[in-house]
Amino acid sequence: MENIRQPMIVRAAKEEDLAKVIEIEELSFPTAWDYDFLEKISKDTFLVFDGQEVCGYLIAGCCHKNIVATILKVAVHPKHRRKGIATNLVHKLVEILKDRKITEIDVIVIEGCKPAILFYKKAGFKTVSTIPQASNNDLYEMKLKLTYP
Ligand SMILES: CC(C)(COP(=O)(O)OP(=O)(O)OC[C@H]1O[C@@H](n2cnc3c(N)ncnc32)[C@H](O)[C@@H]1OP(=O)(O)O)[C@@H](O)C(=O)NCCC(=O)NCCS
Repeated sequence: MENIRQPMIVRAAKEEDLAKVIEIEELSFPTAWDYDFLEKISKDTFLVFDGQEVCGYLIAGCCHKNIVATILKVAVHPKHRRKGIATNLVHKLVEILKDRKITEIDVIVIEGCKPAILFYKKAGFKTVSTIPQASNNDLYEMKLKLTYP
């Protein structure tokens, strides 16, 4: 039988995606962002990965005179991890930011969040500084340089 794969689409988030985003947020983070906060923070770039349903999202914002963009959140539903979804979201972000001539993407990751650190490393991010925390769960600042021909 022919193996028909669902199209995998990364697109801009819509208002009606927020319920699914919040479900993934609550499954992914001990302190989940709520509807109001997500609405406020996601004004710049808010992408969702839409398979048969929304199964991942990425929120980023530009700062420093539109030279640097910061990833604020990326999360994938636990049922759909290790399928390349977050990688697809970052690839789409890079495409969007290159159109805007952004030269760098940065992100802050908690040391204890190993899957996220490994994910960003595989996506080409390098650790540029460590921000010590009293809890010993240090923060890593990671950066990806965007190159242009
Ligand atoms: C981090 C996270 C977004 C990764 O999403 P994902 O869609 O599973 O990631 P991908 O499938 O694109 O993974 C790409 C690569 O990252 C690395 N990686 C991702 N998850 C990993 C894990 N649990 N263990 C080891 N390596 C991992 C691997 O190198 C992987 O490539 P491979 O599968 O070919 O080995 C997901 O685990 C998640 O939602 N975690 C909870 C929320 C979070 O911590 N977000 C980041 C902080 S904002």
